[in-house]
Amino acid sequence: MPHLDPDPARIREMGAAALDLMAGYYEQLRSRPISPRAGAAEIRALVEEPLPQDGCPFEDVLRQLDERAFAMSRHNGHPRFFGYVASPGTAAAAFGDMLASTLNSNVTSWRSAPAGAEIEHVTIGWIKQIVNFDPAGIGLFVSGGSMANLSALAAARSAKAGVNVSAQGMQAVSRTLRLYVSQEAHFSIAKAAALLGIGSANVVQVKTDANLCMDVEDLARCIDSDLAAGRQPFCIVANAGAVSTGAFDPLREVAAAAQPYNLWLHVDGAYGGFAALAPSARARFEHMPLADSLALDPHKWLYLPVDCGCVLYRDAAAARAAFSISAEYIRVLNQAPDETFAFWDYGPELSRRFRALNVWLLLKHVGTRALGEAIERNIACARYLERLVTASNDFEMLAPAGLSTFCIRYRPAGVREDRLNTLNEAILQALQRDGSSYLSNACIKGRFALRGCVLNYRTTERDMEILLADIRRVARPLIDSA
Ligand SMILES: Cc1ncc(COP(=O)(O)O)c(C=O)c1O
Repeated sequence: MPHLDPDPARIREMGAAALDLMAGYYEQLRSRPISPRAGAAEIRALVEEPLPQDGCPFEDVLRQLDERAFAMSRHNGHPRFFGYVASPGTAAAAFGDMLASTLNSNVTSWRSAPAGAEIEHVTIGWIKQIVNFDPAGIGLFVSGGSMANLSALAAARSAKAGVNVSAQGMQAVSRTLRLYVSQEAHFSIAKAAALLGIGSANVVQVKTDANLCMDVEDLARCIDSDLAAGRQPFCIVANAGAVSTGAFDPLREVAAAAQPYNLWLHVDGAYGGFAALAPSARARFEHMPLADSLALDPHKWLYLPVDCGCVLYRDAAAARAAFSISAEYIRVLNQAPDETFAFWDYGPELSRRFRALNVWLLLKHVGTRALGEAIERNIACARYLERLVTASNDFEMLAPAGLSTFCIRYRPAGVREDRLNTLNEAILQALQRDGSSYLSNACIKGRFALRGCVLNYRTTERDMEILLADIRRVARPLIDSA
């Protein structure tokens, strides 16, 4: 079985070849076009082939991987990739992935992965400190922010439905459950509501203020009107960094609105949670201990590669009530309470890779000081872009820069207001094809925005200048037809 079980000397050769690919990739990252210049048909033609019957040498497969996957990918680690909320990954984490796969712990419980479970507990404890979450809370790593939001809302539903939803199902709930978010909430909240039988139509969109943060007076109005109509408010979701704008909802005021009605307060910090490491953002986390649950994504602003999300719960028993289901084949026989601990009692998954390894490795290897400085530089880059845009006569901000996110619009002289949405949409497509800088889109009060998020420790102020120059360059041929 030479391919399945190589000897240590051969493993070292394979590693050296893979390492060459990795180091070469990082070396060329800045000079690569961000997106492949090929379309789906071309890439499919390159990768399509018959089911391999016989293996071939690892080095040959790596060469094909380089020509196919590395050459034909969108490079999220490029310093001018500003689309969505995408992390660049780090070299240390690439090694972390390799080592997690080497150990191949299945971190279902303490019994299955004693060291993995303890490292996860320690790492979750560090994360609670970073984001100022209630120290008595509990948490675990999940695949990403969407899964963290789903898990937290499952706990909220179980705690507040008033019946045992886990056992009896949603049909036992007599009144319609209602959940409140700001208009800037990520779609994973509506998706979670759909999956949990709450219904996406019962996710009430609360108005936002001038900074696109939740308007707490409108929140109170929405809750009162639902109560008057005989519905059952059960949860509020606040943004700690909204996906489109970086808006950070006022946690203290939102918690105060939740308290008289005994509502669950969930905070979606998938994007903004680790901004707590940046001195300029730290104060926003003062009231985080009021949250019942928090969704985080180390695979966003801790710069780690996918897939690594995290959910924290203030009340461990509430989480257990939502997730704990027993079966004879998973019954834990150990007597020591610590050793009976099972992650499946706190989240939807049973088998889980050793996700804590990368977080632990990063925090120990880089440290929170350097991470905080990098996050602070990302925020400073967004602020710098805001200053450049405000000082220009052909760009405008469509929303204030929030954390490291910006929503801008190109507005050259002579183009009518009613043509600007079409022009900026065409600019976005041209920019994404061009490959020097990459933005995604947002809609701010009905206006099409060129939206970017600085989430890369490689990005500099010079990159922000290049971004604006790139937009002007790709816009030039489009202006005449606008
Ligand atoms: C605020 C927010 N919540 C949730 C998510 C979903 O996270 P994931 O893509 O890790 O599922 C995102 C993703 O961008 C986000 O920005």
